[in-house]
Formats: sequence, structure tokens, C-alpha cells
Amino acid sequence: MGFKVIILAAGKGTRFKSELPKVLHKILGKPMLWFVIKAVQKSGAEEVVTVVGHKKELVEGFLKKDFPEVKTVYQEEQLGTGHAVMCAEEIFRNYKGKVVVVNGDTPLINAEDIKALAETEGDMAVLTSRTENPTGYGRVVRDGGEILKIVEEKDATPEEKEIKEINTGIYAFDSQKLFSALKEIDNNNAQKEYYLPDVLKVFKSKGYAVVPVFTEDFESVMGVNNRYELSKAEEIMKARIVKDLQLKGVTIHNPHSAYIEPEVEIGKDTEIFAPIYIKGKTKIGENCHIGPFTEIEDTTVESNVKIESYCWIKGSVLKESSSVGPFAKLRPGTVLEEGAKVGTFVETKNAHLERNVKANHLSYLGDCHIGENTNVGAGTITCNYDGFNKWRTEIGKNVFVGSNTLFVAPVKVEDNAITGAGSVITKDVPENTLAIARARQVNLEGKAKSVREKNKQKRKKS
Ligand code: UD1
Ligand code: MG
Repeated sequence: MGFKVIILAAGKGTRFKSELPKVLHKILGKPMLWFVIKAVQKSGAEEVVTVVGHKKELVEGFLKKDFPEVKTVYQEEQLGTGHAVMCAEEIFRNYKGKVVVVNGDTPLINAEDIKALAETEGDMAVLTSRTENPTGYGRVVRDGGEILKIVEEKDATPEEKEIKEINTGIYAFDSQKLFSALKEIDNNNAQKEYYLPDVLKVFKSKGYAVVPVFTEDFESVMGVNNRYELSKAEEIMKARIVKDLQLKGVTIHNPHSAYIEPEVEIGKDTEIFAPIYIKGKTKIGENCHIGPFTEIEDTTVESNVKIESYCWIKGSVLKESSSVGPFAKLRPGTVLEEGAKVGTFVETKNAHLERNVKANHLSYLGDCHIGENTNVGAGTITCNYDGFNKWRTEIGKNVFVGSNTLFVAPVKVEDNAITGAGSVITKDVPENTLAIARARQVNLEGKAKSVREKNKQKRKKS
């Protein structure tokens, strides 16, 4: 039997003390709501409906971009979790199956728990857990095995506050029974809100079957209500991602300092030395080496690539057996073909380096194409910006670029050319040509000696 899911994401998140709605606060580069939706989709839900309200344009904007298939309903005033679910009634009018309700601030939730809850027999299944510090959670009041009620922290008696079993805010309901029961709850409580957990009492009074489902794994159901809890959740998610990669064959040294975002893919036998940040849609192949203090974002790294320590790499493509760093900055549009090498204190941007190009030290290569086997000497700069426009530098195959060459773009150097060290190249260089563009050297014989003597005498006088 299929099931549908409602995610509650209309609240402000007062305890975050933020202009941003709570569910958009990020864990590993993604809003909390992203993780909830991913888990819900993985659980096999037929349809996902999100209740939005506070700053709805921001939440809807995120949903449209990342999850256009998710429906939204609007809760104009945030009158409580029960009221939020009521706002989705219209969508479920003719639906007779199970509906799972999940809080949008539970980003560590597992797909398996959602599925298990949806498959639980009965009219209402409620997922509960246990924690030594239950402050803030609704407490599960039991009589023997049965749940009598769920009482919110603010409404709890001192004895009830001692209860360590908590409501996770994740439930599965018979859809028709849920929406009719919601009409019977009130807001006579400390927060003057319509609480969703109050439908439990209505279900019980009608003799409907309420089934508690307990999970030992409190971490996976923890609610995130402030930035301290956000950082806790991020730590847990981070450890999950690292472990998952390790089990897939990636070696990660110093794993506690490995910040790897959820969409990153890494192949087996790659060895990573943290501290490290690997972000966005980065894809790394097999048998690579990635040194410490490096940040990589939205980049494709093929296999057998070596990235040494202290590199910053974004929006680039590093092909088979290329190498980078230490201390290199690769900006968007950089492509290193097979075996190409970018070394220490080299910055690239929108630069295509063909096979086996070497730029080993101290260079800026921007808006350029460099043909295969070309050697770029230390201190080379493509002067791509004239203060008004950006221009391109084209360098051919097997070129030898002398140290400290400046290419004043637009300029083209053809195959097998050589530029003399210290040249300022302003004109195109034809094939097989040696271009030298620097002041000629003058050698004055014996002059060094006379200069020295002159200075010695000056020093004596003063
Ligand atoms: C809620 C539960 C509590 C449970 C805890 C688990 C209620 C009354 N309490 O408390 O029993 O232990 O979650 O984490 O349900 N929301 C709306 N509209 C509203 C109010 C809230 O959409 O009018 C959304 C929020 O955006 C949030 C979710 O519902 O994603 C839960 O709201 P929150 O204020 O965090 O409830 P808790 O106090 O954590
Ligand atoms: Mg909460």
C-alpha cells in the first residue's frame, strides 16, 4: 500500500533568532528541509506536500529549484502543528490511504523509519524515542504499554517532565480519520496553539487503534530548534557521510575534520587527508590523493589525480593523472587535460591546459588555451584585463614560455615557439619563432671594479 507525506515547514523558528525561516538553515551546504525531503522520497512516498507559511516565498523558492515535484500548501497564520496539517485537508479530501506527517526540523530522519511507520497497522502510529535530556520535547505519557497522551514541555507537570520518552513529531495516520479528528482539537494550552499530538486523544476517545513505535536511535529523530542543535545535527550528518564513503573504499585520515557535502561522490582507493572541505556537486574518481587544508567545490576530478595541500578549486575539471598544488587556486572554467600540472602559487581562471602542459610555479593563467606539452615558466602572467575588457591568450603546442613572460592579450603564440625570459609579448608569435621582448643587455667591461672603488672613497669622506 502506498502512502503520502505532509512535511510541516511553516514555522518561524523563533529560537534560531534569524531572518531566515528555520527549515532553510543549512547543514553541510543544504537546507534542513532538503534532507527531510530526500529521506521522504527515498522512503517511497507517492506524493509529498509541504506546508509553508513564514516567509513562504523563500521556502517556495528553494522547493521550486530543488524539488519542483513537491506540492505546497499555505498556512497563513502559524497557529500550531495541528492547524498546519489542517491546511492540507483539501489535497487529501478523496484520499483513503495512509498519510505520514513529519516535522521539517528533523533533518536526520531515515527513510527506513518513515517507511516502517507508514506500514504499521492501526489508525495512528507515532514514532517515539528516548533521551536523557528531553527538555523541549513533547513527553509520551504511558499507562503500561499504551500511550495515554503526549504532553508538551510547557504544559507538563513536574512529574511528566521527568519522563524521558519523547514524541519525535513523526506519525502515520489513516488520512480520513486524521482530518476529521483535527476538527475536534482545541488550543486550550500554554501556547494557545492547535497541537497535532492532541489528535491522539481524539483517536483514543473514538476507539481507533493508536500504535507506538519506538526507536533507540534518538540522534536520527532529533529536532533542530536552535543553532546549537543545528551544529550537533551537522556533526552527525558529517560522520554519516564520512562513514558511508569509508565503507565504499575511500581512505579518510583525520576523519573528524572532513567536511564533505551530501552530493559529493568519491571513488575507491582515493586517499584524503583532512582537514578538508569537499562541496557541492564535486565528483572524484578512483585512486586520487587529496592533501590537507584543501577546498574543492563543484569540480570533476578523474582518476589518479594528485591534489597537494592548501589548494582552492572551484568549477573545474581535472582529468586523469593531472596534478595540482601545493598552494594553487583553480577558479571556474579551469580544465586540466590528462597529465597536466599546475604547481605552487599558480592561479588559473577559464584556462584550458591541454595534455602534459606544465605550469609549475608562480603564474596567473586566465582566459587562455595552452596546447599540449607546452612548458610555462615561473612568473608567467596572461594579462587578460585591460581595465575595460577581458581578452584571450592562445598558446600552441610544444611552446617553451620563458620565465616571467607577460602575454598582453589578445595575443596568439603558435606551435613550437619560444619566448625569452622576461619578455612582454604584445604581438602574435608565428610557429617555430623565438620571441624576445625586453631591453637588450649592455656589458661594460671593468666598470664593476671602478664603481666599487668610487663608492669606497665616498664612504671614507663621510
Ligand atoms: C514538536 C511537537 C513535540 C515534539 C517535537 C519533536 C507539537 C505541538 N509539538 O515540538 O511534541 O516532541 O516537535 O521535534 O507538535 N510548524 C508549522 N506551523 C505551525 C507550527 C509549526 O508548520 O503553526 C512546523 C515548524 O516549521 C516545524 C514543525 O512544525 O518544522 C515543528 O514545530 P516546532 O515549533 O519546532 O515544534 P516543537 O516545539 O519542536
Ligand atoms: Mg521543533
